[in-house]
Amino acid sequence: MPTPSKKTPKKVAKRVTASSRNAKSTSATIETHLHENRTFPPSAAFKKQATFAAAANYVKAGRSPVKFWESMAKELVWKKRWTKALEWKAPDAKWFIGGKLNVTETCLDQHLTNGNRNKVALIWEGEPGDKRVMSYYDLWREVNKFANCLKGLGIKKGDRVAIYLPMIPELVVAMLACARIGAIHSVVFGGFSPESLSDRINDAEAKMLITADGGYRRGQIIPLKHDADVALASCPTIEHVIVVKRGDFLLRFKEGRDHWYHRLMQDADPVCKPTYVDSEHPLFILYTSGTTGKPKGIMHTTGGYLTGAYATTKFVFDIKPDDVYWCTADCGWVTGHTYVTYGPLANGATQVIYEGAPDWPDPDRFWQVVEDYGVSIFYTAPTAIRAFMKWGKEWPGQHDLSSLRLLGTVGEPINPEAWIWYHEIIGGKRCPIVDTWWQTETGHIMITPLPGLTKTKPGSATQPFPGISPAVLDENGKPVKNGGGLLAVTHPWPGMLRGIWGDRKRFVDTYWSKWDGIYFPGDGARIDKGGYFWILGRVDDVINTAGHRLSTMEVESALVEHPSVVEAAVVGIPHDLKGEALAAFVTLGPKQKADEKLIGKLRDFVALKIGALAKPEKVIFAADLPKTRSGKIMRRLLRDIASGKVLGDTTTLADPAVIQHIQRRYSEE
Ligand code: WTA
Repeated sequence: MPTPSKKTPKKVAKRVTASSRNAKSTSATIETHLHENRTFPPSAAFKKQATFAAAANYVKAGRSPVKFWESMAKELVWKKRWTKALEWKAPDAKWFIGGKLNVTETCLDQHLTNGNRNKVALIWEGEPGDKRVMSYYDLWREVNKFANCLKGLGIKKGDRVAIYLPMIPELVVAMLACARIGAIHSVVFGGFSPESLSDRINDAEAKMLITADGGYRRGQIIPLKHDADVALASCPTIEHVIVVKRGDFLLRFKEGRDHWYHRLMQDADPVCKPTYVDSEHPLFILYTSGTTGKPKGIMHTTGGYLTGAYATTKFVFDIKPDDVYWCTADCGWVTGHTYVTYGPLANGATQVIYEGAPDWPDPDRFWQVVEDYGVSIFYTAPTAIRAFMKWGKEWPGQHDLSSLRLLGTVGEPINPEAWIWYHEIIGGKRCPIVDTWWQTETGHIMITPLPGLTKTKPGSATQPFPGISPAVLDENGKPVKNGGGLLAVTHPWPGMLRGIWGDRKRFVDTYWSKWDGIYFPGDGARIDKGGYFWILGRVDDVINTAGHRLSTMEVESALVEHPSVVEAAVVGIPHDLKGEALAAFVTLGPKQKADEKLIGKLRDFVALKIGALAKPEKVIFAADLPKTRSGKIMRRLLRDIASGKVLGDTTTLADPAVIQHIQRRYSEE
């Protein structure tokens, strides 16, 4: 059982010392003040069985990243081997040049003959409690048939197909069926509005839309086909619509354009030969919802992406034949692409897919699912963990979670308090936690512990995945030795984005213009003496107060450490003297009294943890915080409220009522 190593004392949240206060604050770096000293080495038992256990392998991969990636690519199914592993003319990378493949052969066909034919691929549970189990053979058959349906409706290699479905097996089937025939899928999260859907369809000029009559979320029916019809009124490129019958929901059918999935499947030929494509053929476009600006169509290609998805799933999640793996992400996000559809299937894993909300009908739904299917590997987001904390440990306490052996998080920096809660309450102090940093753009995990090898530190994504070269740089591209700076990736990696669909200039400006030939992800980070990376969040979320550049995430972490607080978002507000001051939006735990006294206590608490410079000028209590549909806090909107501006783009906001509530609270202050 991993226990905090004896050498390290209890956590020391350092106050600002004279030396750190004197730390040079140039526009190039970000000051960091919160220092987390607890460490969690892997247990001997985990170490013994871990797939990636030898530090020597890590060093070897570091010496020759391209060779490492080639060795991973060799484990996939190729029709034709590549002749050159990498061609790099910044910002354009080509991986496995000359290679030909079809990703579905690695994800499906190989399993028909390697002993996985009758192994469970998907265990699906709908929100109302309906269940389906599909073996690798079932999935292979379904994908083949559906690929033939797509072909039958005129879809060809290179065509774009938009997918707007709930989290049902047909979503995975539709993605793979596109890949089977070389079509490019563009999955649009089922919670998006008609307007967001039509924007994405039009940007990609998709020829087909695959949707459903509806889906379930928190007991409500999401009228997907209805919303799709609204969107399609302004989508001239769509020729056909395929509709999966999820429920018995009312809908309108447009003759000639609309087709039932099950009807097409009845007559479909059961075998569809894979279309072999070049390694650099586009596999999918995925629009980043983003906390800022208009969505970007991030483009990924085939051979490199699959190599990255396969290798990271294999080593980070340590998947074994008997594991039951559950990534709670929807396929509408990149996490669902890489760690539901491609990575686990390429590894022949058995995985759980759940359609609905974590608190339906009660806040223990996830733990019920873990118990019912014996989930052993569980991957979710910090926002979900903070919600579980808010709901209380009695909910997981009602269930047997002893099947769990590995936990993961992704999507945001995880506050050390949430990390510890996850470790103790969900992981029973027994499971390593992999805090994985990556992006839609990077395609796969980039910075992460390797369970069984890496000593973890709560709140740190720890170290680069083998073959990945991140760094913390200043504006001029010089490595930051002490403190925070800008996260960068200095060498190409196989799953990297190959562009923004139809917008070369934005691709170059956004990611490649800060330094020469070095990728800029837009995040701030700190590197500690042990070479551990601490992600500080988006650089847009940095506050410049009295000459200090502070990361909002650190102040939030300090607030969340207070026993009354479950979630916090901190933004900068204009201030005559300091340039910017801090406003903290705070969600309290159940039964906590929101009064002036608590405001004073929270301000003092931040001063104690970080220093007086971080003391929030204002503290605003909010029942909930505004989040994107993928659960990221939208500080941009809070900034607009706090500085009295008109709200910017709110189309990616999950629940508009939240922001109205906060606006009211703020004007009352
Ligand atoms: C943030 C999700 C800290 C980060 C796969 C990144 C994280 C953005 C972490 C990408 C992590 C993701 N620690 N921050 N472990 N993982 N982020 O495109 O700001 O939805 O740039 O991809 O999420 O979000 P995206």
